[in-house]
Amino acid sequence: MKSSILTCALALSSLTVSAQSHVLDVNTKKIGAPVQSTMYGLFFEDINYAADGGLYAELIKNRSFEFPDHLMGWEAFGNFEVEDDGPFERCPHYVELRDPGHKERRSGLSNEGFFGIGLKQGEDYRFSVWAKAPQGKAKIIVQFIDRATMEEKQEFAEAKLDITSSDWKQYEVVMKSPRTIQKAQLRIYLDGKNTVALEHVSLFPVNTFKNRKNGMRADLAQALADVHPGLLRFPGGCIVEGVDLATRYQWKNTIGPVENRPLNENRWEYTFPYRFYPDYFQSYGLGFFEFFQLSEDIGAEPLPVLNVGMACQFQNWETEDAHVPYDQLQPYIQDCLDLIEFANGPADSKWGKIRAEMGHPEPFNMKYIGVGNEQWDDLYYKRLEPFVAAIRAKYPNIKIVGTSGPDSEGKMFDKGWAAMTKQKADLVDEHFYRPEAWFLGTAEAKAKYGDKCGGLRYESYDRKGPKVFAGEYACHGKGKKWNHYEASILEAGFMTDFERNADVVYMTAYAPLFAHVEGWQWRPDLIWFDNTRMFKSVSYYVQQMYAQNKGTNMMPLTMNKKPVAGQDGQDGLFASSVFDKNTGEIIVKVINTSKQKQAVTLNLQGIKGERTAQTITLCHDGMDDENTLDNPEKITPKQGTLQCEAGQKNTVLNDELQPMSFRLYKIKK
Ligand code: AHR
Repeated sequence: MKSSILTCALALSSLTVSAQSHVLDVNTKKIGAPVQSTMYGLFFEDINYAADGGLYAELIKNRSFEFPDHLMGWEAFGNFEVEDDGPFERCPHYVELRDPGHKERRSGLSNEGFFGIGLKQGEDYRFSVWAKAPQGKAKIIVQFIDRATMEEKQEFAEAKLDITSSDWKQYEVVMKSPRTIQKAQLRIYLDGKNTVALEHVSLFPVNTFKNRKNGMRADLAQALADVHPGLLRFPGGCIVEGVDLATRYQWKNTIGPVENRPLNENRWEYTFPYRFYPDYFQSYGLGFFEFFQLSEDIGAEPLPVLNVGMACQFQNWETEDAHVPYDQLQPYIQDCLDLIEFANGPADSKWGKIRAEMGHPEPFNMKYIGVGNEQWDDLYYKRLEPFVAAIRAKYPNIKIVGTSGPDSEGKMFDKGWAAMTKQKADLVDEHFYRPEAWFLGTAEAKAKYGDKCGGLRYESYDRKGPKVFAGEYACHGKGKKWNHYEASILEAGFMTDFERNADVVYMTAYAPLFAHVEGWQWRPDLIWFDNTRMFKSVSYYVQQMYAQNKGTNMMPLTMNKKPVAGQDGQDGLFASSVFDKNTGEIIVKVINTSKQKQAVTLNLQGIKGERTAQTITLCHDGMDDENTLDNPEKITPKQGTLQCEAGQKNTVLNDELQPMSFRLYKIKK
């Protein structure tokens, strides 16, 4: 966050509590419920090309020639053949380049990448390929090319590789890009007449997150780490279920050598009739080992979600036979038990051994498992039962996350909560993609949705039941389905209810996380990117402001003895406060969702004397504005300071909040 002069701040100069001001009483003597370390989290799903073409830094599409159209993403030329007896049994296809038959003909391949291959000037890229030369030796030329250039040459970087064996071997060469380009291609062609067979053709930036070889795209993974997330839920969403069971996400296919991870169809390929992505598959290069490692790298608690024996209910509406029969769930239950062993088991256990061989002998110390993504009704509740029984019996310390389905309220939601309570799920995953009025809890929204909308959602929850995981949510503007500023401010206001209810809300995550600007199916999203650039949405900054300032304990904050949640007479204000035992700071968050300036007074009961408050402010005039690739920092939080005064009884801070703004105050106790 940047430091700058506060253009959005006007401190009032009164020495006492101003009469017209909204007085927010913060009871600094009362340290409330602990804020869970899992607050505030991230939810990763391979939607919008978030994995292949996104966070997973592989630049070659269809690198193993396993797409149903084996040459999708490739342009093959000259004398070539696709063969299927390669060295990797679950990815058997490869391409043979043969003598083109004339000195002025060529045999080769070029790959278009994901919406092009993005390269950065001066950066190194690691090209690797499994190859064999049936005649014992062969040569290939590898080039970065620009097919759209008006320059003399298409190629702008080149390497020559000698293939030196008739057996399959992996070859590698590092190539530097002399230019930044969004849509390069990789071209490989035969140099000479000797046949060469090519399999698992790969290109990664050398510079990846934490320098993990062939790992995550550095800028995107860093953005995740910069949130300071408490949790990482993976691998989805609806992809956990699949369009059908055959294409559900299967974690066991995502571990071990990447060359032998079978391809899977992506659930988001044809979901929306107005946005088709026929080339959307999952290479599983970003698999469960990588997810656990990423969680560790960014300091987040891992929360894997596994299939409960159901295909996506949205895509198999009321079709009982799309799902696994109740008496055939055992392999799915076993997948859950095996996953816990993979994550936590000793290095000599069956699944722990694979983890150790992949480079992580120590356990990942997984504590939570989600069973079922966004399922509803008896089909789900009945299937969940044997999973709960089996996990409890073998791993009583693992916390089970069930779900209340896709609605944020209503009959099915209540039925889901009742079923999860009955089965003693530890947490219930709630999803809500709702419009502005819902987040504000307006009279109109309450008439439509009932009392569970708006800023007092969690006050009525049973304190003894399962805890809440607000696992997918975002404000979807009415007629404005993009990341506009206004929606982010409403999310910020609503989130005060998470803080107020720290004793029931244990985990949260905005959704979805990533979107490629040329490959999205769903918006708004938290982080957008193209092949070389990225930007953080305003919603990202809201999440970050909460996550980096979550404190250790809830601290009561009221106005006229009521919680500040945009209620009648509160002029659109939402507010909450926490205490951080580690820093000794009182952290107050105030959101003005009204279109007028609002005077506020923080009345810090229990502390005396002057203080300096550190502030972070999110404030902007254009409600429909958003950050963009070309203007990624158009709207960002700004740091500043404000003076607290020694009021008559307590320390007091008088302030004025701009319309539609979010200000966070940190004051040493
Ligand atoms: O986040 C996008 C989708 O929304 C998820 O896949 C699903 O769980 C929900 O319906």
